Amino acid sequence: MYSLEQLVASAVQDFTVAQDDAAALENAKAKYLGKTGQITELMKGLGKLDPEARKAQGALINAAKQQIEAALTARREALADAQMQARLNAEAIDVSLPGRGRAGGGLHPVMRTWERVEAIFRSIGFEVADGPEIENDWTNFTALNSPENHPARSMQDTFYIDGNDSEGKPLLLRTHTSPMQVRYARSHTPPIKVIAPGRTYRVDSDATHSPMFHQVEGLWIAENISFADLKGVYLNFVKAFFETDDLQVRFRPSYFPFTEPSAEIDIAFGSGPLKGRWLEISGSGQVHPSVVRNFGLDPEKYIGFAFGSGLERLTMLRYGVNDLRLFYEGDLRFLKQFN
Ligand code: DAH
Repeated sequence: MYSLEQLVASAVQDFTVAQDDAAALENAKAKYLGKTGQITELMKGLGKLDPEARKAQGALINAAKQQIEAALTARREALADAQMQARLNAEAIDVSLPGRGRAGGGLHPVMRTWERVEAIFRSIGFEVADGPEIENDWTNFTALNSPENHPARSMQDTFYIDGNDSEGKPLLLRTHTSPMQVRYARSHTPPIKVIAPGRTYRVDSDATHSPMFHQVEGLWIAENISFADLKGVYLNFVKAFFETDDLQVRFRPSYFPFTEPSAEIDIAFGSGPLKGRWLEISGSGQVHPSVVRNFGLDPEKYIGFAFGSGLERLTMLRYGVNDLRLFYEGDLRFLKQFN
């Protein structure tokens, strides 16, 4: 027969090799502590001994039993710990990893210009108005004094929409923001002091033209608004927009059906890469009396100026971009430079 020490050692050994499944450990336990386990059998054998020996042997067997039970508990805990550790490892989150983050979006350069233009004109008391990109023929052309045979009406320049308006007149993508002069003036009373930035469309595509582009329309109508006001407002605008006082503005006679007289506004920077070059930046003029009449106003009483500037053009000059198509290619290497 084994000594009790051997029995304990053998139990510890069996518990140690019992791997992480509970069944192996329970089988090992049964081998010693179960109904027919070795300790149990030893206990049963005590009955055959005389009282003295029974007491002494019983104490020894009890001590061995306690050691085996302690080894079992220790092994159970070790296995539970190991299982928990394995789970923690499997579900580990490495908190030292930098987060994936959310890619920081940014404003498109033309939108930056749009917002700057709004802020500057708001600061000198202009309202900002928004209008439809699908226009009717009257508002886009006729009300603005464009003769029936004006070349801008031709299919080459204007995107026409399938179907007509309720009066059977063609619908089109507005070719400029100028129809907003008409819409705004017909729904407000003078003094009218507004800008209307927005998308415009023409059948045109090259390094300086895109079929979709942006303009900002300006209109100031009251009883005594002159070219001097136009010059003051526009000079203030370009100085604020380009963040420099070192520039000049010149008004070059031109023609637009909706203004008389009409002028192109050119600017020249006093320094920088474009120094001294006259750059065309806007159309403008004193609103034509017929157009004032189409506003629903008396041209004998109301007078004022209008202008229409390209937002892409302003953006290109401000940032030194030389090809307008870059704005619409969606190339992040280009776009990221503005954010
Ligand atoms: N609508 C013109 C264009 O698209 C620009 C323009 C010129 C607007 C003169 C105006 C203006 O308001 O007075 O080319």
